[in-house]
Amino acid sequence: MESDVLVLGSGIAGLMLALDCAERGADVLVLTKRRADDSNTNWAQGGIAAVFDPADSFARHGRDTLRCGAGLSDPEVVRQVVAEAPERVRELEALGVEFTRTTRGFALGREGGHSGRRIVHAKDFTGRAIEQALLARVRAHRRIRLVEDQLALDLILDSRMGDPRPSRGTPGRVERCWGAYVMDGRVGVPSAGRIRPVTAKVTVLATGGCGKVYLYTTNPDVATGDGIAMAYRAGAAVENLEFVQFHPTCLYHPEAKSLLLTEALRGEGAVLRTLDGERFMPRVHPMAELAPRDVVALAIDRELKRRGETHVTLDISHLSPARVRARFPNVYASLRRFGLDLTREPIPVVPAAHYMCGGVKATLAGRTSLRGLLALGEVASTRLHGANRLASNSLLEALVGAHHGAGEAWRLVRRTPRTPQAERWRAQGTHPPLETVVFDHNWDAVRRLMWDLVGIVRSDQRLLYAERLLALLREEIELDYVRLRLSRDLVELRNIALVGGLIVECARRRGESRGLHFNLDHPRRDRRYEGRITVLRRPPVSTRTLFRR
Ligand code: SIN
Repeated sequence: MESDVLVLGSGIAGLMLALDCAERGADVLVLTKRRADDSNTNWAQGGIAAVFDPADSFARHGRDTLRCGAGLSDPEVVRQVVAEAPERVRELEALGVEFTRTTRGFALGREGGHSGRRIVHAKDFTGRAIEQALLARVRAHRRIRLVEDQLALDLILDSRMGDPRPSRGTPGRVERCWGAYVMDGRVGVPSAGRIRPVTAKVTVLATGGCGKVYLYTTNPDVATGDGIAMAYRAGAAVENLEFVQFHPTCLYHPEAKSLLLTEALRGEGAVLRTLDGERFMPRVHPMAELAPRDVVALAIDRELKRRGETHVTLDISHLSPARVRARFPNVYASLRRFGLDLTREPIPVVPAAHYMCGGVKATLAGRTSLRGLLALGEVASTRLHGANRLASNSLLEALVGAHHGAGEAWRLVRRTPRTPQAERWRAQGTHPPLETVVFDHNWDAVRRLMWDLVGIVRSDQRLLYAERLLALLREEIELDYVRLRLSRDLVELRNIALVGGLIVECARRRGESRGLHFNLDHPRRDRRYEGRITVLRRPPVSTRTLFRR
């Protein structure tokens, strides 16, 4: 398979870039790990932050973003993203996304950290409305091919191309990316189960986040940090990974998996209470339940530990049931499936891993430190979010990034006359696993240790312990990766273990507490870390050893 532009991932960033590049004349291949709508975008409830209220201003949106970012957001990136937001939202609407409107324009919601109403939304299923509209456009475009069940394993670098190259293997040489090795997970096709090189003039990582690194997450199963892991293994710089955002309100229920209760509920007046009914946020922060997410999640965590309780509650039952049902039909219906009624009773909630603020180091247009590789959306770190993301700034970042990324990709396509032939993936000498119990155990071990030791509250000792445990697990997983016939489980396990290790490494390098990174041994912000971003890059190794054989 070959194309001008290879897009890995089918959320808002990947689909918007694909459409834009195709309109410019590029042939685009979009590969997605499972179904096309298995993306974080599809699950997004809140919306897109953008200034539409005449009483609001770009300066205020910028100030809120910078305040949340706790000194690590880049003011120029913030300025640009905020200023472009209204235009990008209108573009989405023109593509068919039906946002909720009033007679005066977009209905604007409110979320934590925002000083006013500025969240453009489609009731409480904004992501689904966006995903469906964009997928319809992508599927109808003659220059775009979208293939499901395609798992990217690793990026193809110069050193994996069949062409003899004078610089091949030269130490310190900057590599170029030419696509990815991809496992075909479809059944009933001739290539079923095979790993094939998919080459392209430009490769775009739009692979989303890594919530599955943690035991409890609001993310879908596909969020295993594949983009960060592949980029790091290929030698690209990654950064800011200590800043994992925990959403304060995920449903606490034995049968529920990853059910988010949107922050917009608190925007409309929902309050948080401990099990004895005490409303605790007003004594924690002047914005109470609408404080930035790091503050709310940390406050919940404190209450749970102090009282030895398993959850707190979110209560909006004081509002009119009709109003709640009309504004939050998706959350209302989802909770009814668990026998809970949002309009009548407090709902049990806990924080859960939600969003990675760091990622593959990239410009706003997605340019990474690896030539030929762009990163967009959650997988990228553009320094918009800094140490903590302002609610509903993520779909916005992906939109603005895709807009600029398409220009960047198109320039690269035009400058690249041809794509060289890649070597075939070699799987000789591998054998099927005799049993999968070890994978299952290691999946659980990685996610549980990340939750227990690298969660909302960290300490030097816990981080050191996590580092040692992960090193051991990663060693075993790498051995399996080389010996065994690959499966999606094994590939994803390898990725969550690596990304977990990178999060720990970043966290260990930050001897302070800032934004989403709270360390009991360094409980305050430290001026020595002001403006300092933790950047990690794999030490130069022969690129051959980055791959299996
Ligand atoms: C939410 O609806 O609470 C999530 C919005 C976001 O993560 O920005």
